[in-house]
Amino acid sequence: NKTANQMLIIFGASGDLTARKLIPAIYNLYKGNHLPENFVVLGASRSAMTDGEFRRKVVQESAYLKDVISTEDADFVSKFSDKIFYEDLGSDYDTDYDLLGKRIGDLNSKYHTSNQYIFYLSTPPSLYEAIAKNLHNQGLTNETEGWKRIIVEKPFGYSLKTAKDLNTGLQKYFKEKQIYRIDHYLGKETVQNLLVTRFANSIFEPLWNRNYIHHIEITNAETVGVEKRGGYYDKSGALRDMFQSHLLQIVSLIVMEPPINSSAEEIRNEKVKALKSLRIMTDEKTLFDHTIKGQYVASEIDGEKVKGYREEEGVDPNSKTETFAAIKFFVDNWRWKDIPFYVRTAKRMPTKVTEVVIHFKTPHHQVFKEQDINNKDNKLIIRIQPDEGILLKFGVKVPGQGFQVERANLDFYYSSLSDSNIMQAYERLLLDAMQGDATLYARADEVEAAWAFVDPILNYWENGKDVNTYGYSAGVWGPTNSDDLIEGDYTWRNPGP
Ligand code: BG6
Repeated sequence: NKTANQMLIIFGASGDLTARKLIPAIYNLYKGNHLPENFVVLGASRSAMTDGEFRRKVVQESAYLKDVISTEDADFVSKFSDKIFYEDLGSDYDTDYDLLGKRIGDLNSKYHTSNQYIFYLSTPPSLYEAIAKNLHNQGLTNETEGWKRIIVEKPFGYSLKTAKDLNTGLQKYFKEKQIYRIDHYLGKETVQNLLVTRFANSIFEPLWNRNYIHHIEITNAETVGVEKRGGYYDKSGALRDMFQSHLLQIVSLIVMEPPINSSAEEIRNEKVKALKSLRIMTDEKTLFDHTIKGQYVASEIDGEKVKGYREEEGVDPNSKTETFAAIKFFVDNWRWKDIPFYVRTAKRMPTKVTEVVIHFKTPHHQVFKEQDINNKDNKLIIRIQPDEGILLKFGVKVPGQGFQVERANLDFYYSSLSDSNIMQAYERLLLDAMQGDATLYARADEVEAAWAFVDPILNYWENGKDVNTYGYSAGVWGPTNSDDLIEGDYTWRNPGP
């Protein structure tokens, strides 16, 4: 695909995301020849900086690009930096945009970007509507000459109500088809591959339902704590930060029905239906039994002291915000009726891993000798990260007398593909938006359906009776009672480091 002439305008450009993710992604796209000759980036934010200072910050002196550009031809790097500009917005995002409008117009004429603009909002969501309004007032949302698109970062809302307000606010100035809600998990190859595993093979999909699947498990674990983001995280927590967005996106791809084709609208229509079929938990007993929250406490890993969550910078010392969340739920539709889903996400776990485990039912008649449960079921393990790949566990006969059955592995690693150069999530997603492909972006109704499921859990955790925030030490798989969430003899699969 060819990328058309365009300008990328980043709001909140002095922030971490621009230097850490966006500029490196644009650099890689530039290097990979994915960008047109007529392309510029304009950073805008409230810090006073010249073009040169901004270029130094995000390119020449960037900690995130340092390793890459140190091996590069200096002329090439300077040609890239010449495409980057900066405009100071003054002290407020809801201000007079005349200067910004003029700057965009001048750059557009000089660099022939064809009036085609992407506005990337890397600012707190409370500013989205004000920015959209000001762009509109400058005539910058109007598509009579050249397309206009807006990308917004998560968190997309704080609750169902605030998400709806954000959607309404943005839709006053941009049409839904111009709005791209980014979820970087959808930019991961392995997440997209869920669709291919299911719908481009004839061996999995016939089994992908309540008749053959016993339960589904998703684990998202990080070894880090909240790092320097305590202020943000304490108001958010694991459920808002990871579950409502990234993990429910993964759930929707596992749960959805086959789309009629791979167009953005058809795929997203099926995802919305999937999210709407998650059974919303309303009574306190179910919420008590099916949800667990936890928080890491001060501990030691390999002789090194690790701060407890409540001692982290920016965190309330009495905080009840969860850094661990485990949720059991059901999906009320024909395919999934009564099949439990278990999803957990946490900081300060023993290893960084995201994986989906599809547990198949054991054969309905046991021909061979009793085996322990972990050895009985077939599992399909989809490794989202790291070691991206797919592992199928199945039974084989142990050589010798009798019929002793043992688990064997069929293991595929992405790294074994001859073209295994996996594009980083931001690279892929930015390129899609530049080419007008919204398949991997969340639509308004998807985001709202996800919030509708999460809202009652959050309300219960904030206001319900008998809600506990269980402590866990850094480096363990969360509170011990999280194993009790899983029905029967099963436990979580805790992948090794
Ligand atoms: C972000 C969350 O969206 O995703 C972070 O805000 C989290 O808290 C991060 O660390 C995890 O992303 P990844 O790609 O490293 O799994």
